[in-house]
Amino acid sequence: MTTQAATAETAAHAAPPFGTVPAPMMAAVETTDGEFGELRVGPVEELRLHPFAHVLHYGSAGFEGLKAHRGTDGVVRLFRHEANVARMRRTAELLHLPRPPAALLDEAIRAAVAANLEVAPPAPGALYVRPLLFGTEPNIGAAAAPSKDAQLLVLCSPVGDYFAGGGRPLTLQVETDLPRTTPQFGEAKAGANYVMALGPTLAAKAAAGVDQVLFAPDGYVQETGAANFLLIDDDRVVTRALDSSFLHGITRDSVLTIARDLGYRVEERDLPVDELLAWGGEAALSGTAAVLAGVGALVHDGRTIAINGGEVGHNTQRLREALQAIQRGEAEDAHGWTTPIS
Ligand SMILES: Cc1ncc(COP(=O)(O)O)c(C=O)c1O
Repeated sequence: MTTQAATAETAAHAAPPFGTVPAPMMAAVETTDGEFGELRVGPVEELRLHPFAHVLHYGSAGFEGLKAHRGTDGVVRLFRHEANVARMRRTAELLHLPRPPAALLDEAIRAAVAANLEVAPPAPGALYVRPLLFGTEPNIGAAAAPSKDAQLLVLCSPVGDYFAGGGRPLTLQVETDLPRTTPQFGEAKAGANYVMALGPTLAAKAAAGVDQVLFAPDGYVQETGAANFLLIDDDRVVTRALDSSFLHGITRDSVLTIARDLGYRVEERDLPVDELLAWGGEAALSGTAAVLAGVGALVHDGRTIAINGGEVGHNTQRLREALQAIQRGEAEDAHGWTTPIS
């Protein structure tokens, strides 16, 4: 076995909690007067940050999450990273941070993966890639002003399955009062959105022992704290239509595209909680980390409702496998979603 393969094997088998293992190298770019400079690739190390930095006071931080998958052929492929580039530029716009040029973000992501190829584990593990952008302008008086300067980092981490138990069906608490975040900011992948969802999520976990909260403010399903939500049966896939209130998941879009390819009818529309509670088919969460994770039960108003008899459904499994086969280079990449890195 080569050193590379041995390192990758170790990373996959040890399976430490998702995101806790830093890959050794990172890519970094800073701005000067709002203009992005040279891309540097070097070892992961502590940052030098001025204590007056905008991000520390006013939360000007956004990020991305994507994966590079090592196929059975040994090749490591990024999955739809151009979509993450576009989404990060949208987040930067909503945070009023300097927007990294698409070509620079693309190059930074590829460079970070290329520098960490040795620790990219085989499936079902992957190299998780975490671009991060934050406001560095040292000005604690800028409560109502954007940060003129920013730092971009691309970090990587070898990961296994996100949800403990892998394919175990999940239980979701349906939250019809609180939104996950403010409606005009749901589309941003901003750190602040995640701390906003934390309180309701921790409370639901403590009170009802659920895995996640499904936010459905005003009686219409949005998403969970870190994944999109889909209803699936033998004929169709139903999910909320895109709007500014929730994150436009790249896995969501990929699953809908694959579903159409496989002959399912895709309905992107409002999804009332009443329809959800009466649904006779399957339900799943989609996301880079979750892939397509089956939902086995919903908790609503203290009542537990089984979904698909508490089992992960066969359509969910089929769509998940079809997606993973493309990611791993085992199926034809008809939509040009993968980029090999060497
Ligand atoms: C709030 C939220 N919704 C949805 C998603 C799914 O997005 P994607 O499929 O691009 O990973 C994520 C990230 O995984 C997320 O954090």
